[in-house]
Amino acid sequence: MSERYVMAIDQGTTSTRCILFDSNGRLVDVAQREHKQWYPQPGWVEHDATEIWRNLTRLAPEVLRRVGAGPEQVAAIGIANQRETVVVWDRATGVPVSRAIVWQDTRTAQLVEELSGEEGHDRFRDRCGLPVSPYFTAPKLRWMLDQDPRLRARAEAGEVIAGTVESWLVWNLTGGPDGGLHITDVTNASRSLLMDLRTLAWDDVLLDHFGVPRAMLPEIRPSVEVYGEARTVLPGVPIAAALGDQQAALFGQTCFSPGEAKCTYGTGSFLLVNTGTEPVPSSHGLLTTVGYQIAGQPAAYALEGSIAITGSLVQWFRDGLGLISSAAEIETLARTVEDNGGCYIVPAFSGLFAPYWRSEARGIIVGLTSYITKGHLARAVLEATGWQTRDVVEAMNADSGIPLTTLRVDGGMTADNLLMQFLADVLDVPVVRPLVAETVSLGAAYAAGLAIGFWPDLGVLRRNWHRAAQWVPGMAPERREEEYADWKRAVERTFDWIR
Ligand code: G3P
Repeated sequence: MSERYVMAIDQGTTSTRCILFDSNGRLVDVAQREHKQWYPQPGWVEHDATEIWRNLTRLAPEVLRRVGAGPEQVAAIGIANQRETVVVWDRATGVPVSRAIVWQDTRTAQLVEELSGEEGHDRFRDRCGLPVSPYFTAPKLRWMLDQDPRLRARAEAGEVIAGTVESWLVWNLTGGPDGGLHITDVTNASRSLLMDLRTLAWDDVLLDHFGVPRAMLPEIRPSVEVYGEARTVLPGVPIAAALGDQQAALFGQTCFSPGEAKCTYGTGSFLLVNTGTEPVPSSHGLLTTVGYQIAGQPAAYALEGSIAITGSLVQWFRDGLGLISSAAEIETLARTVEDNGGCYIVPAFSGLFAPYWRSEARGIIVGLTSYITKGHLARAVLEATGWQTRDVVEAMNADSGIPLTTLRVDGGMTADNLLMQFLADVLDVPVVRPLVAETVSLGAAYAAGLAIGFWPDLGVLRRNWHRAAQWVPGMAPERREEEYADWKRAVERTFDWIR
């Protein structure tokens, strides 16, 4: 009998990937395409949803070709996607009405102040677990509808509809002459500012406040469930899971028990801890969000510390400053010096996310003297990721009352040994990286495989998790706390720059 696979679609901020996993959870092959980033104005970031869909239609057959497999060998499809980014499209034609507004986009900063009003950014935290921020979907949708009264009327009539990227892909994958399924998964919905965290349903108070018509929104479904069969690209293959990419990584790292945490280091970084079947409110600047929901079971919730800029600071160091020619070189450059020489970089390029939520903050470099070389700057760049993680872990320990004991990591930046050691040093806990570092796509595959019985239960997935590397803390406590105090002083300076 020929081998069967689960296909994961990882639709990320910069690229789309199709990955095949076999029944041992082994990554068999991958096909990948980048899509264009549109920056029409400072602070604006857009994607062409049609380009993303077109890429997927090419990637799925491409990865099958690479392994010499046919569509009948794909047991199920699971989707992981960049979260919060919103697409609005015409229900009748399936054509987007404009480019998608990306999660990093800050055009709604002013609108967010108005929507927060006197009650402030935390006014809906109890209901939806999130502060009012340009990061989330609702202000982006509101902004689009405010641009054009005709668009709002059509949205109210359900003629134009909206969704995050998984919603857009499911619509197109299940689309045929009669249009596709219009659904979203509960983890993506939990990033909208429109869903009640307890009922897992769109909330009238929130819809009303943000001015988003219910008629344009998708149906909220569990993350692990057979939604339907594909009618395009891979006809007949069940679409069996969808999760926001960071929640997919939580699943791929098999953080199924309360207290288990992972951090994914990419463009930005996202630390999530499973908190069990009750949402845990945050009073220290974290997000309360849905981790995943298996059909027929209660949702598993998570606390999340989102960091906007980590890997993209290394990109800026390479492309903006031209101090290195490849991202990997930063480690070599940083190793030319012993320490940061007293220099700190706080990359508040588009404000600061968790735990500060200051969209007006701007980045700074402090502690410059003529002693500082580009090696020190390279260290400060890497250390910024370590300190930002420490900020989030401090908040997490304070919110949950249970100190983190170990951190599972994944993502591109975990190839940097200097950074991983620094992370263990400043967090003062062991940092571990699993054998399959592609945890976003693995999580999407696991979820889809679970839904169709390709894997029987969570226990089997858990047994598949193997440690590949571990870094243990080695920094003297006095030095750690002194440097952390300096970092905190540097963060304060980013607020001073605001007019
Ligand atoms: O919340 C944004 C996050 O989902 C983006 O992840 O990996 O696509 O940059 P990534």
